[in-house]
Amino acid sequence: MVYLITGGSGFIGSHLIERLLRNGHSVINIDNFDDFYSYQVKIKNTLESIGKISDFEFSEKETDIQHLASLSHSDQYSLYWQDIRDKNGLENIFKNHHIDMVIHLAALAGVRPSIERPLEYEEVNVRGTMNLWELCKEFNIKKFICASSSSVYGNNEKIPFSETDNVDNPISPYAATKKSGEVIGHVYHSLYHIDMIQLRFFTVYGPRQRPDLAIHKFAKLISEDQAIPFYGDGSTARDYTYIDDIIDGITKSILYLETHSGVYEILNLGENQVITLSEMVNTIEKALGKTANKKILPMQPGDVTKTNADITKAMALIGYKPATDFQNGIKKFVEWFLRKRH
Ligand SMILES: NC(=O)c1ccc[n+]([C@@H]2O[C@H](COP(=O)([O-])OP(=O)(O)OC[C@H]3O[C@@H](n4cnc5c(N)ncnc54)[C@H](O)[C@@H]3O)[C@@H](O)[C@H]2O)c1
Repeated sequence: MVYLITGGSGFIGSHLIERLLRNGHSVINIDNFDDFYSYQVKIKNTLESIGKISDFEFSEKETDIQHLASLSHSDQYSLYWQDIRDKNGLENIFKNHHIDMVIHLAALAGVRPSIERPLEYEEVNVRGTMNLWELCKEFNIKKFICASSSSVYGNNEKIPFSETDNVDNPISPYAATKKSGEVIGHVYHSLYHIDMIQLRFFTVYGPRQRPDLAIHKFAKLISEDQAIPFYGDGSTARDYTYIDDIIDGITKSILYLETHSGVYEILNLGENQVITLSEMVNTIEKALGKTANKKILPMQPGDVTKTNADITKAMALIGYKPATDFQNGIKKFVEWFLRKRH
C-alpha cells in the first residue's frame, strides 16, 4: 500500500514511517520542517525512520533538507519539503503519486504557544487540513486518518474521558483547532464518502519525544542539574501514552479503514493510567538516578488539570491494546535520552 504521511519527520510520524517501511509499504512524507523545534532534530528523526543513521554534517537549513531528500529517496520512500498551507504545492504531489490512504499528523502542536499565535495555528491545523481533504476529494482518495488530541476534552469533569462526552468547551486555541478538524472532517466524510478515523492521542512520550514536552524537557533539565518548572502543587495528572502503543493504535486504525467502508469514527488512544505531575517527576528521577530541583510556579492558562482516556471503544473496534506501563516506558525513554547525549 502507498501511504501519504504528513508530519512524517516529527515525533509520532517518524515512528509510524519506520513501522510502515518495515512492513513493506511505500511512504510519501510531507513535512515543512517547521521551526517549532529544531529542524535538525527532524532530520535525525527522518534518518532514523528510514534506517539511515549516518553522521549527517549540518550546515544550514535549506542545504541540509536538500541533502536529506537526496539521501532518503528510494522506490519505497519519497520526502517532500512542503507546507500543507500551500495547496498548489500539495496538488503537484498528489498528481505525481498513487495514494491509498492519507495519515495526517502535521500540525502546530503545543497548547501554550497556541495562545501566543492562534492565527497561525488556525492556518496550519484547520486550513492546511482542509487543503488535504480538498485534494482527497479531487483525487478520489477515500481513506483518511487524522491526528486529534485529548485536549479537545478541556477540563471535562467526567473521568475517564469518553468519545461520547461533550467536547464543546476547549480551553486553548490548539484544542479548538483539533476539534474543528473533527467537525470539518465529518463534512468531508458525509459529502464525499471519505472513510475517516480521528485519533485523540493522550500525551505521547518515548524515544524522539518532542523536546518541548514535559517529560523530555524535565529529563534534560534534571540531568543538567538545572531547576525544572513545576506548575501547581503536583496534583495535575495526565494519561501518558507510550509511542509504541500509539503506533499500534494507528496501524490497527489503518487496517480497520482498509477493511471497512462508510466509516467515521473518533477514538481515544491512551493507556487509561493516570500519573500525577509529582509521580511523573519521581519516575524520571529514579530512572536518571538524580534528584530534581523544582521551581514551583502557578498553573498556566490553557493547561488542563487532568486527562484520562476511556479506551474501551478503541479496544472493541480496532483491537487496540496498550502494553507499556509508565514505569517501563520512562525507563525506555531515559535509556534513549542518555544514549542520544553520548
Ligand atoms: N505528541 C503528543 O503528545 C500529541 C498529543 C495529542 C495530539 N498530537 C498530535 O499528533 C500529531 C503529531 O504530533 P508530534 O508530537 O509528532 O508533533 P511534531 O511537531 O513532532 O510533528 C509534527 C510535524 O508536522 C510538521 N509540520 C508542522 N507544520 C507543518 C506545515 N504547515 N506543513 C507541513 N508540515 C508541518 C512539523 O515539521 C513536524 O515534523 C500532531 O497533529 C499533534 O497535534 C500529539
